[in-house]
Amino acid sequence: MPTLRIEAYVIVSADGMLANADHVMPIELKFEGDKRFFTAALDRADLIVHGRHSYEDQPNSPQRKRLVLTRAISGIAADPSNPRATLWNPAGASFEAACGHAGTHSGTVAIIGGPHVFDLFMDRYDTFWLSQASKVRLPGGEAVFSGVPHQTPQQILAQHGLKPGKAQVLDEANGVTVTPWQRKP
Ligand SMILES: NC(=O)c1ccc[n+]([C@@H]2O[C@H](COP(=O)([O-])OP(=O)(O)OC[C@H]3O[C@@H](n4cnc5c(N)ncnc54)[C@H](OP(=O)(O)O)[C@@H]3O)[C@@H](O)[C@H]2O)c1
Repeated sequence: MPTLRIEAYVIVSADGMLANADHVMPIELKFEGDKRFFTAALDRADLIVHGRHSYEDQPNSPQRKRLVLTRAISGIAADPSNPRATLWNPAGASFEAACGHAGTHSGTVAIIGGPHVFDLFMDRYDTFWLSQASKVRLPGGEAVFSGVPHQTPQQILAQHGLKPGKAQVLDEANGVTVTPWQRKP
């Protein structure tokens, strides 16, 4: 049976936040180098998965196939506002069924948040691409995983069987790097 490769992408602050206290991703977390990396990854992905508030809003977004998590439906439904999107409620249908509805049976799936969506796939990631802005702190912000800030994002990924690969520098002046956390057999 063909398999789906599950990857995730996020940028977090030094204290593990993906958004500020108002649930908004602030300008302080937006860097051209990270945006280029993220955009290229989404252009390569066969399917994008996100919660209802995490639309990436890029020029190529309308061309991308996606699953949008929402509790507004019971299982799986076509998105009336976007012919390339499938609405999915994991409480009522499996991930595989939702991918099938979207017409994706193999290839790479990119999980792009928010926090509950990242939590949901925690034991399934092949690679979690964790970008971090080492000079930005967002105290009281929205944490990338439900266990942060009690634990760091890195501790949580390690607890779920992922190991860090070599970090790449995305923006030297601003101390932004991306590290692939990979599941090794
Ligand atoms: N820094 C980054 O890289 C990054 C990445 C992602 C997001 N963000 C930012 O973080 C914020 C995320 O917003 P958010 O916390 O509201 O997250 P979100 O996951 O984008 O949206 C939450 C909504 O998704 C649906 N949902 C989530 N989990 C679900 C589940 N298990 N079952 C069914 N539906 C589910 C629900 O929609 P319904 O209300 O329709 O039921 C829920 O209200 C935004 O500001 C976004 O820009 C930043």
